[in-house]
Amino acid sequence: MKQFVLIFFTLLVVGCNSKKETKVEITPVTNFYKQSEMAALMLLMYEKNAENKKLILAGKSPKTFPEEFLKIHTAKLTDSTDRNQDFKTFSNYYINSMQQVFNSPQDSLINKHNTAINSCIACHETTCVGPIPRIKKLLIQ
Ligand code: HEC
Repeated sequence: MKQFVLIFFTLLVVGCNSKKETKVEITPVTNFYKQSEMAALMLLMYEKNAENKKLILAGKSPKTFPEEFLKIHTAKLTDSTDRNQDFKTFSNYYINSMQQVFNSPQDSLINKHNTAINSCIACHETTCVGPIPRIKKLLIQ
């Protein structure tokens, strides 16, 4: 009998809405879990904001607004119905808040950074609650 090599892997999908809470998927090796463009962008935004936090805590200013962030308006979502009017409003609010982090005097950086992170959280409260505890770690206390 032919042996099938099945690779079992556990995906801890950071639950976006309750129907997609932490789940375990068993997938043959040919069918890798495909990360959406939006999920990849989010992870990049996470990294950049973690860098910003470090810079600000070290008394430095984040220099250039990462233009990739603008892809929030176009990146493919896992669930395309998420891109409704609210999503667009939250995206604009987020981009505006984020741009101010790159455009502010030193003494208001902590404030601007936290406002930007809170704009991440505001959108997540309506679309994707799973990552909120992680996002909160980006706040500067
Ligand atoms: C306009 C709404 C919105 C904003 C603003 C937003 N997010 Fe998201 N985020 C989402 C949605 C929707 C998903 C799910 C994406 C998907 O699965 O396609 C997501 C997914 C994520 C994920 C999980 C990615 C994964 O699958 O591993 C992280 C982490 C995340 N966002 C962090 C952030 C951070 C950090 C910010 C701010 C710098 C931010 N988000 C701003 C809506 C938003």
